[in-house]
Amino acid sequence: MTRDKKLVRALRGEPQEIPPVWLMRQAGRYLPEYRSTRSLAGDFLSLCYTPDLAAEVTLQPIRRYDFDAAILFADILLVPHALGADLSFEPGEGPRLSTVTDSASLSSLKPVEEIHLTLAPVYETLRILSGALPAGTALIGFAGAPWTVATYMVAGRGTPDQGPAHALRTADPVTFDALIQLLTEATISYLSAQIEAGAEVVKLFDSWAGSLEGEAFDRYAIEPIVKIVASLKSRWPEVPVIVFPRGAGSRYAGFARTTGADCVALDSGVDARWAAERVQVDGCVQGNLDPGHLVTGGPALVEETCRIVRELSGGPHVFNLGHGVTPDADPANVHRILEAIRR
Ligand code: CP3
Repeated sequence: MTRDKKLVRALRGEPQEIPPVWLMRQAGRYLPEYRSTRSLAGDFLSLCYTPDLAAEVTLQPIRRYDFDAAILFADILLVPHALGADLSFEPGEGPRLSTVTDSASLSSLKPVEEIHLTLAPVYETLRILSGALPAGTALIGFAGAPWTVATYMVAGRGTPDQGPAHALRTADPVTFDALIQLLTEATISYLSAQIEAGAEVVKLFDSWAGSLEGEAFDRYAIEPIVKIVASLKSRWPEVPVIVFPRGAGSRYAGFARTTGADCVALDSGVDARWAAERVQVDGCVQGNLDPGHLVTGGPALVEETCRIVRELSGGPHVFNLGHGVTPDADPANVHRILEAIRR
């Protein structure tokens, strides 16, 4: 049963004696078995859209590490792709997309109902996973939050400071707000279909929330997330929602209360003791080991892991990294984390 799974119990506010563990980007290039399935698929998008292969790479880290959760293998940029943006992943360069910079390029996107034509293989991946996961492993679906997805759509690529999105929201707020509105509706529809296909938990990645300041944070990070969480909760009150407002800093305090999220994911910049006092009071927190420790290993890896678990042991906690596993991580270091937490 979903509600008995360790991850789900923690997300619903029950502290677990040993916290559930999973890692952002737990499937990826640091695993040799991922690299071999990836080369079988050809490019990254084909891997995302081939259900058998996407399910296979989702399961690889579960077999190797027995994590408490599997996260659907897909990407936050599949939503813009399904809305009609051209998308490619150039090896070594990251994503490239056609851009939305004015009302003409915005209106050339498809209506929300049509995204499911492109995204149908993702739902099939979830159906395969629902039948293939070990009994105690929870299945997490996800999407990018509207602000973060918009930063890629406006710039056509990843940017260090999200400059093009900030420029558009200042110069042409009508177009920018309409893009956020479209992404909010698409995200609700996409996550609803993921839940119907078997996702037991959903997560919103707002990886660039930290570049929004003052009122812009409320308008572009908080508001769309409030709408998405409320809409999902009205249909599936039991499905926990995790939100990752990366870089939110002091605005992590109160974030769960304001948005209705069941759990906030902490980036590595957040002090665990501060989070225990200011964030965990509102419910579950997830995080937040610096992913660099999976590269460097040594005593610091275990010390930091134990410190985070200790600081957050007074309330519900899901152990994770503060950001994704990097391609240069040593797979053996993941075993060391698990030993430290579960022993
Ligand atoms: O966490 C998981 O294991 C599930 C799968 C997942 C991927 N991307 C697979 C992926 C998830 C949840 C994501 C989220 C994602 N994608 C985010 C938000 C989280 C974050 O990291 O801040 C963002 C911003 C993206 C966009 C994206 N996808 C970029 C910028 C890149 C290129 C950079 C890189 O690491 O190569 C990707 C590609 C990508 N998405 C890979 C994987 C495993 C690497 C592709 C490859 O195999 O070459």
